[in-house]
Parts: sequence; structure tokens; C-alpha cells
Amino acid sequence: MSKNLEINKRKTFAIISHPDAGKTTLTEKLLLYSGAIQIAGAVKSNKIKKTATSDFLEIEKQRGISVATSVLSFDYNDHKINLLDTPGHKDFAEDTYRTLTAVDSVILVVDCVKGVEEQTERLMQVCRMRNTPVIIFINKLDREGKEPVELLDELESKLSIKVRPLTYPMGIGLQFRGVYNIYKNKFSFFRSNKTKVEEESIIFDGIDDPKLNETFGTDAEKLRHDVELIDGVYESFSVDEYLKGNLAPVFFGSALNNFGVQELLNTFVEIAPPPVARETTNGIIEPERKDFSGFVFKIHANLDPKHRDRIAFLRVCSGKFERNKFYHHVRLNRQLKFTNPASFMAQSKELIDEAYPGDVIGLYDSGIFNIGDTLTEGESFMFKGIPRFSPEVFRIVRNADPFKSKQMEKGIKFLTDEGLAQLFTQNLGNKKVVGVVGELQFDVMKYRLLHEYGASVEFVTLPAYKAFWLKNNIKEEIEYLQSMYSNNLYYDKNNNLVFIAETEYSFQRVKEKCPNTIFLSSIEHNDQTLELENVA
Ligand code: G4P
Repeated sequence: MSKNLEINKRKTFAIISHPDAGKTTLTEKLLLYSGAIQIAGAVKSNKIKKTATSDFLEIEKQRGISVATSVLSFDYNDHKINLLDTPGHKDFAEDTYRTLTAVDSVILVVDCVKGVEEQTERLMQVCRMRNTPVIIFINKLDREGKEPVELLDELESKLSIKVRPLTYPMGIGLQFRGVYNIYKNKFSFFRSNKTKVEEESIIFDGIDDPKLNETFGTDAEKLRHDVELIDGVYESFSVDEYLKGNLAPVFFGSALNNFGVQELLNTFVEIAPPPVARETTNGIIEPERKDFSGFVFKIHANLDPKHRDRIAFLRVCSGKFERNKFYHHVRLNRQLKFTNPASFMAQSKELIDEAYPGDVIGLYDSGIFNIGDTLTEGESFMFKGIPRFSPEVFRIVRNADPFKSKQMEKGIKFLTDEGLAQLFTQNLGNKKVVGVVGELQFDVMKYRLLHEYGASVEFVTLPAYKAFWLKNNIKEEIEYLQSMYSNNLYYDKNNNLVFIAETEYSFQRVKEKCPNTIFLSSIEHNDQTLELENVA
């Protein structure tokens, strides 16, 4: 098959949601429809869990949240689908943000009972920043939820995106009878059905078809009224606007009951973009480009407790990746070849010989990769747009077992390489501070340091507001910071100078004193350009 055909058949996407909205359930149903799993049983049956689960860290089993981002690849209707799973919990949001840099589109799941929740808003902000096309699936229609029009209003107002329902429900909760596909004039009947795949449906000759009355009796008028209202209020659907990230089509359904999932999947493969071009320090790289290039968006150590290996997840952006061929590691300026590149189906890995744009491959990593690293066939550009945000919670690291200090150093280095947390080393003192997005990451770190590295640490609270990377510094201002705020100056892993502010108020005062310094609360992952010559 030619390379362009290979590219065009790929769809690489992520499902995002607030925890409990139904992301895992929907993922399992998509796998079921694709034939990637065969068990048409209750979603959470242990058997399916075993096959399809992406929750493979012990700690997340304990806590019931998805900590690690994994990749699921499956075929559907001549398409190769790469689904990048993301942790829903807000404490692991950075992992999700990084994953969003590696996808071409997103399916957003919203719980019809809870509506748009906080975490959904944050995730959508990231999608909006990158103009990622979004399809919305309103889930759990079998439960007594909010009115559909109310939900649609909420989506537009809270997520700052225009929406266009492509289906519309008749009734909700106990009264839920099914959904009407506005574009195909097809009504799909809802049956509480956790096992069967096919849906029962009728095609009508438009919304005025008299058959509607025979089928639904008095409910037919309400459906007509609703569909006319939708057509009047919302712009007609435009695939172009969807692809530009301006308009999100909306589907209603129930993942648990296999309802609306196939419609979603069919529309997804029809309209979702194939691998899109990406920005680098050397301009835009198109997927059709002859030479291979790709970037690492995630590193995960010890996926398999039996092997204790570390894997860098690389998104192929252009050309063709081949096993055992030498590639250029741009940051290290080294030639590397990979003998065991892998593709994924949750926990099971498969050796691959080649990969195309849109694919995500796992490369065994002996510690040579950082998040944001680029591989090419020789050129020296780097992919842009992989964000690193200021942590929100900070702790001083204390070694609780003096005999294991080497293990601790190693563990902290590897876990921060993975992006689980950020490490800041004090400029003058030797205090090591770990910053994370949410408290839960400290628990994960502590657990993993102990179980994977045999190191025991204590985390001591450091009251802090945010970390700011310093840019455009001038000598006098740096000297001022060093004399007045030496305790607040740190270096990050890439030797960029960072100011950790205690409070928002103190930060404002520092900013007034250093008007020419730019305080950045997020930077590019591989940014090493902030290093200063005039720092003592
Ligand atoms: P998440 O990955 O987004 O966190 O959500 P997940 O799929 O785990 O679903 C959260 C809960 O919502 C699960 O129930 C799941 O069964 C339920 N759920 C998902 N889709 C639907 C739906 O369409 N209708 C209804 N009524 N429920 C749905 P749980 O009680 O937390 O887990 P379990 O006991 O089912 O395993």
C-alpha cells in the first residue's frame, strides 16, 4: 500500500472527559464494535477489564483512577484507529495535556446528569488552544439527566465552542425512547442492552413523514418541534468548520447500553481528520513528507513489573519509521536505531517493523529520551507545542533512608523524566523541590519510588503559589532577585532559571520590582533557551 493511502486510513484521537462520565465504558464499546475485543458482556466484567483495561499501574487499581496514558490501536472499516487513552483525574492533567499534542482529534464525553464539569472545561481549553477538532458524546441518556437543550446551551457557554447536534433524543431517563438522526432521518430505538451490538432503527422520509405519528403517537409532535427548533437555532453542520476546531457535532447515547456508539464511531471515521501537519522549529512538517520524523510525548517506566523497562511513546509525524534503521536524536545529536519498537493494545505490546504518520510507537528507552525529544532522518528541527505548566503544589524532598540516597536520586530523575512531576533545585542552597499539578501525584511518586527504586522519601510542604520561568532577564534585576529572594530561585531540569513565588501578592510585588523580566507560567517542554549567562 502506498504511503499516502497508509496515512489517509489513520485516525489518531483521544477520548477526554471528567472522571466517571463514561470514558472507559465508551472505550470498551468502541473496541467491541471494532472487533478488537470479542466479549459482548457487561462492561466491567473482569474478562473485558483484563483485555481492554488501560489501568495497569497497581496504584490506579487501588484508587480506581486511570493514571497512565496508554495507546490502543484497532481497525474499523478499512481505517486504522489509534486511540490514546488519557487519565481523567485532574491531578494527572499534565499527562492528558501532553497526550493531546499527539492526537489529531478528540471525542469529549459529557455525563447528561452532571453536564459540563470543571475538568471538561480545562481539557477543552487545551483543545481550543490547538484548534483540535472535537466530537461531543452526551452519555447516560438512560438516566434522569438535564434537558438536552439545556445541555447544548451549557456546552456552548462553558466550553466556548459552537455546537451542532447531529442526533436528538426523544425523552430521557425512564422516558428515553431513542435518538433521531437529524441528517439521516433515522430513528434508533433505545433498548437497555449491555450485550448486543446492533440497534433497531427506522428510516423516515423526513421529519414530516406521517409514519412518525404511527410510530410515536403523541410523541411525534414533540420530536418534530424539537428537531425544527434545533434546525432553527443551530447552524447547519459543516465538516470544514469541525476540522478547523470551530464547530463540534453532538451525539446523544448511552455507552453502557451500547446505544449511539456505532453512530458515533461511523461518523468519527467519516469526518475525523487523518494525520495533520505539525509545527517545528523549522516550519510546518506535512505527514506526506518523504523523510521520517516524530516526537516523544510520553515516557513511562516499569509498565510491566516483570521486566522493569522504560518506554518512550513516539508519535510518527512524517515519512515512514522502520525498525533497525538509524535515526537522528536531535537534542543529543546522536544516531540511534531501535531493534524492538512496539505497538500497543493496552498492556500487550507487539513488535512492529514499520509505522506511519499518526501511529504511536513505543521505543525502549535506556534513559536517553526526554519528553519533547524529536527523531528525524538527519535534520535538526524540534517539534513545538508540547507544554510544561507551572505546578500547583510544591513539596521539599527529604530522603527517609540515608542508605538509599542513590536509589532516591535515580528514582526522582526517572520519574521527573516521565513528567510525573517537575524537579527544581535551589540556586544557592541544595534544596530539591518537587512540583506537581495535584496532591495525588505525590502518593504515586512515593509509591513508585518505594516499589520500583527501593527508595523511601518524605515530602515536606513548601507553601508556594506558582513557579515562573524567567525570560529576558537583565543583570540588575537578577542581582536584585538574588539578593532579596535567593531562597525563591531554582533551576529546572534543563537549567532554566525559575522563580517560585510564595503567594500571588508577593509575586505581584516582585514583578513590579523587575519590570523587564518576563515571568512565564508555562514553557515548551524541551525549552533550554532560557539559561542565563549573567546568573552567578
Ligand atoms: P470514566 O472512565 O469516565 O471515569 O467512567 P466509566 O466508564 O468508568 O463510567 C463511570 C460509571 O458510569 C460506571 O459505573 C459506568 O458503568 C457508568 N456508565 C457509563 N456509561 C453509562 C451509561 O450510558 N448509563 C449509565 N446508567 N451508566 C453508565 P460504576 O458504578 O462507577 O462502575 P461499575 O459498577 O459499572 O463498574
